[in-house]
Amino acid sequence: MPTTLVTNIATLVTNDPTLGPTPLGLIENAALVIDGDTVAWVGRAEDAPAADRTHDADGRAAIPGFVDSHSHLVFAGDRTQEFNARMSGQAYKAGGIRTTVAATRAATDAELGANVARYLGEALRQGTTTFETKSGYGLTVEDEARALRIAGEHTDEVTYLGAHIVAPEYADDPAGYVALVTGEMLDACAPYARWVDVFCEKGAFDGDQARAILLAGKARGLTPRVHANQLSYGPGVQLAVELDAASADHCTHLTDADVDALASGNTVATLLPGAEFSTRAQWPDARRLLDAGVTVALSTDCNPGSSFTSSMPFCVALAVRDMKMTPDEAVWAATAGGAAALRRTDVGRIAPGARADLALLDAPSHVHLAYRPGVPLVSDVWRQGVKCA
Ligand code: NIG
Ligand code: FE
Repeated sequence: MPTTLVTNIATLVTNDPTLGPTPLGLIENAALVIDGDTVAWVGRAEDAPAADRTHDADGRAAIPGFVDSHSHLVFAGDRTQEFNARMSGQAYKAGGIRTTVAATRAATDAELGANVARYLGEALRQGTTTFETKSGYGLTVEDEARALRIAGEHTDEVTYLGAHIVAPEYADDPAGYVALVTGEMLDACAPYARWVDVFCEKGAFDGDQARAILLAGKARGLTPRVHANQLSYGPGVQLAVELDAASADHCTHLTDADVDALASGNTVATLLPGAEFSTRAQWPDARRLLDAGVTVALSTDCNPGSSFTSSMPFCVALAVRDMKMTPDEAVWAATAGGAAALRRTDVGRIAPGARADLALLDAPSHVHLAYRPGVPLVSDVWRQGVKCA
């Protein structure tokens, strides 16, 4: 495999504190060498070793590929009408999920797979090189297992979310649905998944149900992550920390005790500003979390109901404008933060030994991701050493 020198990088975000000032480990006038699927060397351009090929970044910035640690891509149909109604003043409710469940169940495997590929393609062109995605729009044993199987054809980061809402068939028997999710459905789904997730919320699953589901998943070798405190205050965040979940996602309504729990545990707070944007909800208080020392990740939550965006640059811009994050904090959260939320050390940074996942920006620095919102700045993307956009 020939080595590639990427040189003439105006600003390189490494996310490695040993390579440059924190939090981003920035190097100016930088270069890097890709060997196979791995970064072999990083440093100042004038110190770069020879390589078989050279790619001139021409004064552009380079960042680690975005790590989108939260999406719901296995679905069919869309919810344009619901979005229109919301923009005319209606509130977002978890019940809208049922519309997508009906469309997803009616879709063929090929249609679902094509949808996943389409949204992953969008994301890749916007610099996302690691992607988590979930089931949760099937809600039968067969439909959940098929969603995870299809997801696994596109990413290793697959999450079992049979507990998205109570399946319509069990509307009068939520305990029966929890028994299914922790029993037969888990048996069918666990082989395809790395993670188990629950939507812990009024109208979905309460704290006791969520605990039972996450513990059952854990017993089958799945690591918990939790949709927590999105629409209201609740037990989700503290449950996530108690069960050593990799991530508590949304974190929009937090008490001081929730923030303290996150600050004292290993659970990343994953903020999903696309959801607040698309549901016109209050913004999560990123500043409060960061000031308390919580590890914060940013992700898209890409789904047809609450956040139909695959764009990490858009989420970075929202987080800076509306969640009081600095551009440095937001770019870190969208790369290294996402990696932490997936408990990965091989992605989210550009350093010797890391996976060669990176994006060049048509801009002199990463700050332009927030400074120039809506502009397609991602110009070249390498994933595992292969230039793919
Ligand atoms: O993360 N909160 C639960 N699930 C999704 C929304 C799913 C939908 O509305 O279809 C979310 O926002
Ligand atoms: Fe979600």
